[in-house]
Amino acid sequence: MTINQAFEILQKSGGIRAARIITDHFGPMTGIRVRRIARQLRRDVPVAKIIHEKWFYGIRFYTNTATLDPRPDTETLVSAVIKDCTLDAPRILDAGTGTGCIIGALAKNIPTMHGIGIDRSWGAVRVARKNMRRLGLADRIDILWRGFATFGPDRCFDIVVTNPPYIAHGDTMVDAGARHDPAMALYARDNGLAAYKTIARRATQWLRPGGRIYMEIGIDQETPVREIFDHFGYKFVRSEQDLGGITRVLIFDYS
Ligand SMILES: C[S@@+](CC[C@H](N)C(=O)[O-])C[C@H]1O[C@@H](n2cnc3c(N)ncnc32)[C@H](O)[C@@H]1O
Repeated sequence: MTINQAFEILQKSGGIRAARIITDHFGPMTGIRVRRIARQLRRDVPVAKIIHEKWFYGIRFYTNTATLDPRPDTETLVSAVIKDCTLDAPRILDAGTGTGCIIGALAKNIPTMHGIGIDRSWGAVRVARKNMRRLGLADRIDILWRGFATFGPDRCFDIVVTNPPYIAHGDTMVDAGARHDPAMALYARDNGLAAYKTIARRATQWLRPGGRIYMEIGIDQETPVREIFDHFGYKFVRSEQDLGGITRVLIFDYS
């Protein structure tokens, strides 16, 4: 099938932008493949899940069904860390690393840092390792198959950064693309707050005295998440808003 024929079929199923990205990415395709992709588009499968890549912070990351596709909102979190980081050779932990987009973007922009990304999903660990290798970061970033509750080194990280699952079970406001992301990446018990509770408890062991934690939050979660971190003795530093003016990032110190 010619590229023009493929373009026309894909455009009818997913619109002009999707058709352009997919034909640019794959070039000539067989008719069977084009029709399969057209069916995916009609089921609202995001383009990133079809071409297996998503740009984040100006960097291309591999993604698949085991990982959340990196979202532009999360760039606010990365920018906040980069803006503050004046340490010589910081050690950074990314809790719930997914594709590794956060720790990868940080490592590309803070050349002296070393870090660890952890995830409970083995599929995500494989994806993040692949991304670190592709980006030439495997010597500075280790990706480990660990849960928040069980990862436990002794107060050695200068910075913890996390974008945990924070959507309440049953929340119907998730975007169409999220239906194709893994549930483990999206949903948390306790009205979406369970992962923050675990992380607040565990990060007291992860952070060195005087260390700092940066986290992404969902809409309207600032007050409950601040209460959780207050309870564990953290000191609130500031919040950051995303491009839509929504409070997206909370920052706390722990001594
Ligand atoms: C919202 S996604 C964020 C992925 C990536 N950091 C990003 O910002 O695109 C949350 C990630 O946390 C992982 N996760 C969920 N519960 C976890 C747990 N208890 N321990 C470790 N990782 C967990 C999920 O597998 C998922 O990769």
